[in-house]
Amino acid sequence: MTLYNLGSINLDHFYQVPHLPAPGETILAESHSTGLGGKGANISVAAAQAGARVVHIGAVGPDGAWATARLRALGVGTDHIAGVDALTAHAIINVDPAGENAITVFPGANMKQSLKRLESALASAAPGDMLLLQNETNAAPQAAQRAREKGLEVLYAAAPFEPKATAALLPLTDILVLNAVELAQLKAATGLNPDALGPETVIVTEGAQGGRAITTAGEIRFAAFPAETIDTTGAGDTFTGYLAAALHEGQPLEAALRLAAAASALKVTRKGTADAIPSRAETDAFMNAAS
Ligand code: RIB
Repeated sequence: MTLYNLGSINLDHFYQVPHLPAPGETILAESHSTGLGGKGANISVAAAQAGARVVHIGAVGPDGAWATARLRALGVGTDHIAGVDALTAHAIINVDPAGENAITVFPGANMKQSLKRLESALASAAPGDMLLLQNETNAAPQAAQRAREKGLEVLYAAAPFEPKATAALLPLTDILVLNAVELAQLKAATGLNPDALGPETVIVTEGAQGGRAITTAGEIRFAAFPAETIDTTGAGDTFTGYLAAALHEGQPLEAALRLAAAASALKVTRKGTADAIPSRAETDAFMNAAS
């Protein structure tokens, strides 16, 4: 069984800053580093670290071979990452002393997904497989439509929030994952509460408060694991990837939520994105130590 992930691939530039810049303000960064990121790539890495077989569908420019190689080294299937005539996407990530961030993404090659490549990537997909999506590439509705036709479950993380993209994907989504801010934005855009959005399962993450899953059978609350926050960047992606992998391996929703919460708590104790996502062994050990 396979997780197919149509997802962004970014070069992340991290700047440790004394505070997040205000409008019109120029600040000096205290340090700079780079690494593999992109919500899509982070989700693929998290799912692979959790133990799932992951096929990433994406695109990089001529400057992006390193990103494909890094994804492969982190356990992700890269046969369906295309080289396209555009710059590999990058992200400018300011991180403040409390571990909060502000991110700007230049989407570049992420917006050059082709329907032909998508079709060939999903050619061997079958019921029991799952398609993962977020809002950092083009062609997500077409991918969801094709996945539905092939009997796949569709898990969609509505980040970064974009009302039109989200409205197009809601009817094609089985499991929706979003944070409390994105939920408020979705409510403002649609006027709908989570149980009326369409997907059978809606999972809302609420940072240090944990979160909740709204299903047709009712609501499940889950707790956050206490952790010393160094950098929250990619914590949501880590949650999503681990959740998808745990559900895919047949864990009940409650157990999958707990594993995902543990992995994302461990992530916030580390700087960086894809390279900072914990392994399954680390996550299991952290979870067991906490109980
Ligand atoms: O969620 C974190 C990610 O958002 C970063 O890796 C950055 O690339 C942006 O996509």
